[in-house]
Amino acid sequence: MSALAELFPDGDHRFHLTLRHSEPREFFTPRDETGKILVERARWLSEAPNRHAALTPEGQPLLAEFAEAIAEWGLAPGRAMLTELSAVLEPDFLFLSPDEAGAFRLRGGALCFPTGWALEEKMGHTLDFIHGVVPGLNLALGSPISLFLARLKPGPAFIRDNWGLAATAELNLHPSRAVAPPALPIALDRLWLRVEHQALFGLPSTRGIVFAIRIALHRLDEVVRDTAAATGLRRALESMPEALADYKRLAAIRSELIARLK
Ligand code: HEM
Repeated sequence: MSALAELFPDGDHRFHLTLRHSEPREFFTPRDETGKILVERARWLSEAPNRHAALTPEGQPLLAEFAEAIAEWGLAPGRAMLTELSAVLEPDFLFLSPDEAGAFRLRGGALCFPTGWALEEKMGHTLDFIHGVVPGLNLALGSPISLFLARLKPGPAFIRDNWGLAATAELNLHPSRAVAPPALPIALDRLWLRVEHQALFGLPSTRGIVFAIRIALHRLDEVVRDTAAATGLRRALESMPEALADYKRLAAIRSELIARLK
């Protein structure tokens, strides 16, 4: 099965916590030979630094430990500050650590390419709160996610993917940019399957967690040539609850797109 088809598990749409093993270092190793990603990261970090990188006081030791690991891997100079790291690493990275009650909270990080959310609104909040806007997610996976994070041992990275559809190839979908959602009429060469490749790994000393994200965009006219991916996408769109389709900004195109994928 192709990597794209694997985004859509067999059967009706459901939230899943499918994680694969990898190496933290590998996730951060540069992949973009064009250099465009770092150029764009530098742009957002200079135009609106506070919107794209932030740290709470609790995040400071997590950043220091992460920066040390990145330096050990030869990907940045030692003792790098947040904006410096944000500009030399291709993925976005976020730090979490548990509060006194054991709930994981977002302590900051770099987010140049958000998929429709604002780092500044989520800073310091629990994962339950952050996921609260995703209809049905906490009910389906809130406890398994918390349990997974609480048990996460430093060492390997755990990889997973989220997908969405966007009417743009822009990487930065910060809400302040008000990028329009997919709309009718449907043109497959103006729609993109937007994949968030995510990695989660633990930091040995601080016991914090790094949540890293790489965005990949696949134009839909190319995606549909992969029959298994097209079938999986159609099934997910058909079976997704209305509230989730609204949240994913797909309500306006859902039925038309399903018809196009037949
Ligand atoms: C560990 C397993 C995790 C799973 C299974 C998971 C799953 C999901 C899913 C299914 C969505 C909805 C995406 C969509 O359908 O468009 C989502 C959204 C989101 N997740 Fe997670 N997530 C995980 C971990 C995390 C972590 C560690 C963070 C750290 C900050 C995080 C932050 C977010 C944010 C910010 C959103 C978007 C919320 C919004 O639109 O405001 N997630 N997540």
